[in-house]
Amino acid sequence: FLVDRGEYRHFMAKEIHEQPEVVGRTLAHYLDMATGQIRLPFEAKFDWAKLERLTISACGTAYYAGLVAKYWFERYARLPVDIDVASEFRYREAPMARNGLALFISQSGETADTLAGLRYAREQGQHVLAVVNVPTSSIARESDVVAPTLAGPEIGVASTKAFTCQLTVLACLAIAAGLARGALSAAEGEALASELIAVPGLLAEALKSEDRIQELARDISRVSDVLYIGRGTSFAMALEGALKLKEISYIHAEAYAAGELKHGPIALIDETMPVIVIAPRDGLFEKTVSNMQEVAARGGRIVMISDRETVGEAGVDDLRAIEMPRMAPNFAPIVYAVPVQLLAYHTAVVLGQDVDQPRNLAKSVTVE
Ligand code: G6P
Repeated sequence: FLVDRGEYRHFMAKEIHEQPEVVGRTLAHYLDMATGQIRLPFEAKFDWAKLERLTISACGTAYYAGLVAKYWFERYARLPVDIDVASEFRYREAPMARNGLALFISQSGETADTLAGLRYAREQGQHVLAVVNVPTSSIARESDVVAPTLAGPEIGVASTKAFTCQLTVLACLAIAAGLARGALSAAEGEALASELIAVPGLLAEALKSEDRIQELARDISRVSDVLYIGRGTSFAMALEGALKLKEISYIHAEAYAAGELKHGPIALIDETMPVIVIAPRDGLFEKTVSNMQEVAARGGRIVMISDRETVGEAGVDDLRAIEMPRMAPNFAPIVYAVPVQLLAYHTAVVLGQDVDQPRNLAKSVTVE
């Protein structure tokens, strides 16, 4: 590889730290940073305003980027979204809308299931859009329109910077769709764009929580199970956090929509069970806090990831916190990716695992 680890012990650490830069670069490719106007770097070939449905499909971390985007497309563009992992989508014989857009997300652009899903969507007469990091890949070649992420080569098997760049592109696409469909006014579009413009700086701030996370990782490295909870886009981030932890530290982790806790997983809570609560200050914050209090009442060990100003208001004694910068809530998932990545990374390092090449996993899964 031409890429080296530089001052970092692992590619994963380097790639986590590159995020302010690569997200900024990706953003500048989609958004005029001076005027705040979205400028998609491709010709759409379909009319956002006429789409009936968006179908998203991907694998692994790219799937979780899609899950975040589902909330964004529905909220900002009022576009109904279907989402499925590609290994299910390709075989489930989904009937597809007459004027539908199928969106595939892939770092490598070579994931076999995602590519097969793309071919199915094409047979079903869908417009095909791909968000890919490798512009020469099969998925890019077979799509009508390619929306590139500019993350640069990603070497660590567990995806980090490609994920935040995917989210960045998806946010821009959702705003563009919202404007084209009249679901967002020009002023609302600009307000969202200005929140996005703040993201690279917020990512740099979020990286400052690394020492604290390293401390917490020592505790996490001693347990056998971890639960991640969140609501809305933070539910998707809980899933991504749990995936990161299991991939590289081999600790069992599970994510739940916070409101679903009472339907099962709360039975698991005792003093040995860390519960990572992803709670940016958004419209669902109070709801998530009340779920967190239910966990605390049963002796669960809470790690709350939230604004530095709000962790004090959580009303829970003995709270472990990872403090994020205060931010407007819409694109919090991009920033909150950092603490979940760092927590998995440092836990794996404490355990002495092979962070960049975890057992049984491959960077690019080109076989079914
Ligand atoms: C593998 C990698 C994951 C990645 C997934 C999808 O499982 O280990 O990090 O998220 O494939 O890969 P893609 O290249 O399609 O994004």
